[in-house]
Formats: sequence, structure tokens, C-alpha cells
Amino acid sequence: MSTTYRQLLNYATLELKGNNYALWLLQAILKTDRTELYLKLDESVDEVVLKDLNKKIAEIKSGLPIQYAVGNWQFRSITLKVDKRCLIPRVETEHIVTLANNIINKLDKLEINILDLGTGSLCIPLALASESVKKLNIYAVDVSDDAIEIAEENLKANPRLHDVISIVKSSWFESLNEDLIGSFDLIISNPPYLNYNSTVDKSVIDFEPHIALFSDEAGFYDTKLIISQAKAWMSEKSYLLLETDSSLTDRILFECGRNGFQNCEIIKDQFDRFRFAIAEN
Ligand SMILES: C[S@@+](CC[C@H](N)C(=O)[O-])C[C@H]1O[C@@H](n2cnc3c(N)ncnc32)[C@H](O)[C@@H]1O
Repeated sequence: MSTTYRQLLNYATLELKGNNYALWLLQAILKTDRTELYLKLDESVDEVVLKDLNKKIAEIKSGLPIQYAVGNWQFRSITLKVDKRCLIPRVETEHIVTLANNIINKLDKLEINILDLGTGSLCIPLALASESVKKLNIYAVDVSDDAIEIAEENLKANPRLHDVISIVKSSWFESLNEDLIGSFDLIISNPPYLNYNSTVDKSVIDFEPHIALFSDEAGFYDTKLIISQAKAWMSEKSYLLLETDSSLTDRILFECGRNGFQNCEIIKDQFDRFRFAIAEN
């Protein structure tokens, strides 16, 4: 007797120890949504599907993050393609979009220029562009060829945002067009900020790009560089918004003050951890 999708789903749920991983994985393999999958539950499973599912279950059991196995991940209202070329956007980072939206709404302008440094999957620009009612011009920068590739793929999947977002390969500000000096109303960055000695999950170390995670000077090197160079690129009434580790917040306050930023503030994430810094130009 042949296996049905219902039996396959039960088997995968047991193998993956519950959660919704099995549903999510099967949906991705079948390239279908949940409703369609439910309609198929009593149909016989295709051999190819069975093989593919078993391969993915083995990969997940060996530590591959479920997001990479599935190949996509929800970030606010956007479904992003994610694979080993980019960091899996963290749920904490969804909160930086809320903070950025607050700043955008506060700015007394209808057209806002934004720079996202270290864009990875393009999660922040895509979320901002799809949520804002103001006209945004967003420059999304990354130094990694892999990240640039996946950012471009994610932009391609959102054609209505093509006119809003420009992707630029650059090490922070290094290769940005000089015409953009003094033009950004908001600079956002979630740079690499982990100390090389930090305790990090094995699956993160084994599968996620290290260029997205670690920074010299106990995690502070890239953040410090961004703070020291940002001002020149910012417009008159503008904001710098950073994601960070709670161990670095004092150093951020000090560097922002030293570089002439005003009203620097540290803000908690949705889990009550100090995670973001906002500074006014
Ligand atoms: C923590 S990840 C953030 C990715 C994405 N913004 C997010 O929030 O999920 C840091 C990103 O910075 C990029 N990066 C690292 N060094 C960089 C540099 N010197 N210039 C530009 N981007 C850099 C990495 O490739 C990575 O995509």
C-alpha cells in the first residue's frame, strides 16, 4: 500500500520532534501553501518527494538550520529566500524596522533617503519599503558577494520595490558614490558584532556566514568604524540606528558622543534585552 501525505507528515513530525517544521518543510518541497497541502493529505506520495524529504530531515538532524533547509523565512510581512549565503534574519531585527518606521514618521519630509549597511538578505530594506507610506530611497550595502547575490534575488522577487531599493557592493561607506555625501536621513546597520570568544550555537558556527557574525576588538570594530564615518553621509536632521550586543552599549554611547551625535539612546528589544542604539545628527 502506498504512503499518503498524512502518513508522511506524521512521520516527519516525529522525526523532527514536533514543532511545525514538518509542515513547513513539506510545503516547501511541494512548492505549495498550507491549504493546498491539507487538501492533498489522503493522496499518495510521489517517490521524489519522499526522497527529498528524507534528505532534508537528515540535513536538519545534522544541524542545518530549518530556515536553510526550507529555503525561505518570514521577516515581518516579507517572505525572504534564505540560504547559506546570508545570515538568517533574527526575530529581534524585526524590531529595528519598528524603530526605523517611527523615525521615518517623525521626519518632517515626504521623501526619505535611507542607507542600510550590511544588508544581508535585504530583510530591512524590503520590510521598510513595503510598510512605509512615505517615498523612500534605500541604498542597501554589503561587502559579501554571496550576500549581494541573495539580496538581488530577494529584490527580484519583489518587483514593485525595484524603484525604491538600490543594492551596492561596498565595504561600509568605502565604494558609495560621493554624490550621496550629506544625503541620508536615516542610516541603519545591524553589523557583525560578536566577539570571537562568544558562546554561539554550533549550528550557527557550522552554517551561517562568519563575516555576518564576528568583528575584531571584542565585537566592536565594525560598529566603531560605522559610527566614526556615518556623520559625513548624513543630512542635517538625521538619525543613526544600530543593532548591537548588550555588552557593547556603553562603548556605543561613548563613540556616538565622541563623534558629535546628540541624544544617543539605548533601546531594548522585544525580549527586554538592550539591543539597539539611536543617535541624532
Ligand atoms: C549581522 S549581518 C546582518 C544582515 C541583515 N541586515 C540582517 O539584519 O539580518 C551583518 C552583515 O554585514 C555584512 N558585512 C560584514 N562586513 C561588512 C563590511 N565591511 N561592509 C559591508 N557589509 C559588511 C555581512 O556580509 C552581513 O550581511
